[in-house]
Amino acid sequence: MSIALAEILAGLRLSEKMISPKYFYDERGSQLFDEITHLPEYYPTQTELGIMLDNMPEICGLIGKKASLIEFGSGSSRKTRSLLDSLQQQAVYVPVDISEDHLLESAEKIRSEHPGLEVLPVVADFTQPFDLPDPTIMPLRNIVYFPGSTIGNFTHDAAQELLGVMHQEAGVDGAMLIGVDLQKDPAIIERAYNDSAGVTAEFNLNMLTHLNREFGFDFDVSAFTHSAHYDAGAGRMEIRLISGKSQVVTSGDERIEIDDGESILTEYSHKYTLKGFAKMAERAGFEVRKVWMDQNNLFSVQYCVRRG
Ligand code: AVJ
Repeated sequence: MSIALAEILAGLRLSEKMISPKYFYDERGSQLFDEITHLPEYYPTQTELGIMLDNMPEICGLIGKKASLIEFGSGSSRKTRSLLDSLQQQAVYVPVDISEDHLLESAEKIRSEHPGLEVLPVVADFTQPFDLPDPTIMPLRNIVYFPGSTIGNFTHDAAQELLGVMHQEAGVDGAMLIGVDLQKDPAIIERAYNDSAGVTAEFNLNMLTHLNREFGFDFDVSAFTHSAHYDAGAGRMEIRLISGKSQVVTSGDERIEIDDGESILTEYSHKYTLKGFAKMAERAGFEVRKVWMDQNNLFSVQYCVRRG
């Protein structure tokens, strides 16, 4: 049995069933996520891009010349591309992703759009320390770039650990540029995950279609509904799939019983306060040097330098 299948089955055997959000992203899932980023209700993407565009000279001034931009994840997003467009001379771009095909494809795209930029993709699980490539020109500074508030998918313990890896990869004189979604009126947050066109629901349900195809499960996808609720105490969106009937799901000889009304947790999306994030960054050895926000304080882009 593959490690992935064992991990999925273990999650489905917990008293509170869960499946990792990484299984959202098959081809259809990535396409649906891209659609989500264009929805009027889904404020994070457009807001973060706006913050970046409004403050690009200052951001690039802090990053400086001859920087190595180490992106956690293989970004071919507009945010990454406009940052790469504006970076000062002799920059290096190091996208890091576990999915080799996707990584090399988007690295090639970036390369073709940015002649003169050295692009050195690294296939790795960025939640664990990894080796950095050797650029032709020695960078003056490593900047770990983690856009999209992907940090929100991690529990606080896991996020703290990830910040530790970022601190290590940033190295001496290094820094981190990170997109962090903020706590706010719960209605605004919940709307972003319950869009009127139903794209987020389809994105959530597609995880089961993906598991059926890739791991031989037989979830009755049509019996499930999407649920997205903001827990203000925990400061996070909790996204679930709820079965509208009792069903026995199998993969090979493995059996999973799901009750009528039982849910599977598919994603947390943590929202931070500025104070709360600063505390975690400090604990990881960073100092928050600059925070940029939009007019409505929905979202933040933060530049954190290594302390000491
Ligand atoms: C990619 C994790 C940042 O949490 O907002 C969007 C994923 N899920 N709509 C988020 C997501 C449902 C997104 N992140």
